[in-house]
Amino acid sequence: MNPKESHIQPLISLQRLEVAYGGIRAVRGIDLHVNAGERVCLIGANGAGKSTTLRAITGLVPLVGGAVEYDSRSIAGSPPFDLVRRGLIMVPEGRGIFGQLTIEENLAMGAYTRRDASQIRQDTERVFTLFPRLAERRKQAAGTLSGGEQQMVAMGRAMIARPKLLLLDEPSMGLAPLMVEKVFEVVRTIASEGVTILLIEQNARLALENSDRGYVMESGEIILDGDARDMLNNPKVRAAYLGEVEA
Ligand SMILES: Nc1ncnc2c1ncn2[C@@H]1O[C@H](COP(=O)(O)OP(=O)(O)OP(=O)(O)O)[C@@H](O)[C@H]1O
Ligand SMILES: [Mg+2]
Repeated sequence: MNPKESHIQPLISLQRLEVAYGGIRAVRGIDLHVNAGERVCLIGANGAGKSTTLRAITGLVPLVGGAVEYDSRSIAGSPPFDLVRRGLIMVPEGRGIFGQLTIEENLAMGAYTRRDASQIRQDTERVFTLFPRLAERRKQAAGTLSGGEQQMVAMGRAMIARPKLLLLDEPSMGLAPLMVEKVFEVVRTIASEGVTILLIEQNARLALENSDRGYVMESGEIILDGDARDMLNNPKVRAAYLGEVEA
């Protein structure tokens, strides 16, 4: 561990985490942590086990082995409601919005563990300020929105849940460059307010440029981790994940 971090308590830590689907081990004993206030990315090819790692954190798939601690407590087996109430919020792969519900109704789902109606209203208006496109369409069924607009709804819903730790699974997936820029601008805004972020991305450059540290996953294992700037300059990372020819 970096001496600078030695006194900092991780907000989330995975120890020897193992997950399997049937007999297939998708995550093979990984260690990963994110300190409070840090932005960390997990990159790697299709099928490496990135989404499975996030699903294990949020309890959507059971652990075969290892431990997950959030805010210094084990959360293996915790019901999703508890995790949400404690500020552990995921924007899942594919966004997980409710297509039949309006934008407003989808955003309201983010507040389901909250009771402070006037604060919820303020947070909702703030999402509409950040994403004016959603404000214009607030009564529209979310299923009729473009992919980028649906990503905005998913991010907005997560913000309304007041995250302490935000887990983002490929927020840039399927979006045009301008929309990707917009989504990452909002990620930076959220991070600047002190929210801790664990980001999964196929776009390794974008992920590392928006992170303090990174981990590389391959076939269910962490094969490399370190400072995001160093990783951007690492010839192996550049060749394998940034689409550059190794020097
Ligand atoms: N529900 C499931 N049942 C069986 N196998 C699964 C299931 N979900 C994922 N897997 C397998 O587990 C492995 C890891 O998948 P995972 O979705 O975690 O990868 P990923 O790194 O998120 O990939 P991508 O970048 O394509 O989203 C893959 O081999 C995948 O086929
Ligand atoms: Mg995935």
